[in-house]
Amino acid sequence: MKNFVFYNHTKILFGKGQIALIAGEIPEDSKILLVYGGGSIKNNGIYEQVTDAISDFEYYEFGGIEPNPSYEKCMKALELIEEYEIDFILAVGGGSVIDGAKFIAAAALYDGTEPWEILSHNEEVIEALPLGVVLTLPATGTESNGNSVISRIEYKEKLAFSSPEVLPLFAALDPQVIETLPAKQISNGIIDAFVHVIEQYLTYPVNAPLQDRFAESIMLTLIEEGPKVLKDPTNYDACANFMWCTTMALNGLVGSGVPGDWSSHNIGHEITALYGLDHAQTLAIVLPGVMKVMKESKKEKIIQYAERIWGIKNQNEEETIKAAIEKTIGFFELLGVKSRLSDYGIPVTAADEIADRMEERGDINIGEHKLVGVDEIRKILEIRF
Ligand code: NZQ
Ligand code: ZN
Repeated sequence: MKNFVFYNHTKILFGKGQIALIAGEIPEDSKILLVYGGGSIKNNGIYEQVTDAISDFEYYEFGGIEPNPSYEKCMKALELIEEYEIDFILAVGGGSVIDGAKFIAAAALYDGTEPWEILSHNEEVIEALPLGVVLTLPATGTESNGNSVISRIEYKEKLAFSSPEVLPLFAALDPQVIETLPAKQISNGIIDAFVHVIEQYLTYPVNAPLQDRFAESIMLTLIEEGPKVLKDPTNYDACANFMWCTTMALNGLVGSGVPGDWSSHNIGHEITALYGLDHAQTLAIVLPGVMKVMKESKKEKIIQYAERIWGIKNQNEEETIKAAIEKTIGFFELLGVKSRLSDYGIPVTAADEIADRMEERGDINIGEHKLVGVDEIRKILEIRF
């Protein structure tokens, strides 16, 4: 096992009715900026629950954070923060709202030339406003990690940053929020969490059996519980199990002490930046390509995955790997998410376009062995048409 630092301190308030308890987690006399998205929280009762809970605080609202949150929109929040001397951010929404809120929290105290540098130049976040979260869409794991992904519309760029400074102080996770989610968002959430686990698992063995089994238990639970949630989002127990999987998939647990391969995410972000696909749709396309093109260096773990997750045994190596990839694609398609670029009307030229812009930015030689170069990126995409 490799050396690691594990710094997750987000306090999770999990279960029915937990949103009512968030006031107890916010420092006294805070001036709160309530950050939310396109308005779903105003139609499903979550807005009332939150505003009731924080009614004793002075708070202001900043709505309209888009899916794939934009730099342009987030920057507008800084004016409110300055005008009202905001000192606490409360994000109420899915991954986009929470990521947007994290960026706002960091940008508010950034003292470089422009906060975009945090994303474009990996400028360190020295400090950020404290942040709390009410999660309305289980998927990304952002509610208890220090990551944020922001798009700059002007440049068609989607970039990530990571800092312990934006780790939420608390996250309220009430599985009942899933009841109002469109089926598409539930499927997206299952796939996003599944791929987060895969990217911390499908690399090479480092004698870390506990991490492997953590990862396998999350994948198996998602395979079991995910379809139940999709069938009936009022099934509280299935929703609770699904929600906990999504948090555990990217809170540092399964990735500690093992190699990671984030190439599906990196390439996927380019597809979203250029063609606007949902995050999980891009993963359903790219991951099978990564598994195929990089199968030699991932062989041992793909075979373990095939056996332990899909029960594939007694076949030769080549057949086992092929069957594991087919099972993975089958799972995504069972959830109703298409897995080919052509399914979304994306032209064949996208492979070159994406490979070239990743090369230009220096985002190549990625993956656990830094073997995913510009040719591999092109190939990964070409075989997914
Ligand atoms: O904007 P509102 O009105 O809130 O509507 C949202 C949005 O339209 C809606 N929604 C959310 N909760 C709902 C609801 N509708 C009804 N009932 C509810 N309870 O769902 C739509 C999608 O929301 P969004 O937040 O965009 O989805 P998701 O949670 O999948 O987040 C995706 C973003 O997270 C980033 C992705 O790249 C993408 O930008 N990621 C962040 C990560 C992180 N910070 O660790 C890791 C991930 O890999 C991912 O990259
Ligand atoms: Zn993701």
